[in-house]
Amino acid sequence: MPYETLILEKQENVGLVRLNRPEAYNALNDQLMNDLTAALDDLERDDNIGAIVLIGSEKAFAAGADIKMMREWDMLDVFKQQFITANWERASRCRKPVIAAVSGLALGGGCELAMMCDVIIAADNARFALPEITLATIPGAGGTQRLTRAVGKSKAMEMILSGRPMLADEAERCGLVSRMVALADLQREALALAGKIAGFSQPVVALAKECVNRAFESSLNEGILYERRMAYVTFGTEDQSEGLAAFVEKRAPQFKHR
Ligand code: CAA
Repeated sequence: MPYETLILEKQENVGLVRLNRPEAYNALNDQLMNDLTAALDDLERDDNIGAIVLIGSEKAFAAGADIKMMREWDMLDVFKQQFITANWERASRCRKPVIAAVSGLALGGGCELAMMCDVIIAADNARFALPEITLATIPGAGGTQRLTRAVGKSKAMEMILSGRPMLADEAERCGLVSRMVALADLQREALALAGKIAGFSQPVVALAKECVNRAFESSLNEGILYERRMAYVTFGTEDQSEGLAAFVEKRAPQFKHR
């Protein structure tokens, strides 16, 4: 199905979603967020897909929420339509791994969308910022929470209170992104990582992802207990039996995602 504001491709077992509103630096309007929700629903339903890459253009991953759209709304409007809650958070609820491949600007909601993903790979021209304060508003799609968890209080405070952008090398140093790559290599590197993950057992990948996310929601002991139980669960899968057998028999495993 063609989408108005993004391009969805399936490359073997990887879904590639390209945000595509070039006239507005991929600003996130309702149409784009509805399209993204539908595209991610499609990829989640497709058993052949094991991982997802979310990418923008060279100039912009996304320049944030659509300011022209927000300008029309007052407090009751956003409350009634559940702005953000209604259609922005699908990426954070994906069970399949989602890799954000960020080049150019990731501003406001664009930065927040990248932070909803599981891994961020940044091109060397990437620029992350939460500039909402310059508009007399604040990040509303998880920015104050996810940035703080990713980079710590002091840097998050500085960025959110001043709007200061962070370039890719700083983002790599402070752990906001998993790594920085040359712009020309961004899509290839992100697809390679997604392809590698998609080659493993899908249910076990999903369990591993759940466990890492649990680290943000629980105490250390609770998180470790959850991890232990999920590790036990892998012993009940055909894929884990196959993985261990393949190692002992010195052959490549054939995972069946069961
Ligand atoms: N919303 C709507 N339109 C946007 C936009 C946005 N976030 N960002 C850029 N555009 C539009 C511009 O309005 C302009 O459209 P027109 O041609 O119709 O005038 C077009 O994209 C090109 O933009 P510029 O002319 O400004 O291009 P530039 O190269 O001089 O600057 C930019 C580019 C740095 C991205 C600048 O446009 C900018 O600062 N944009 C706003 C970034 C921002 O503040 N984002 C946070 C939004 S709030 C948010 O995201 C809230 C939340 O937490 C959910």
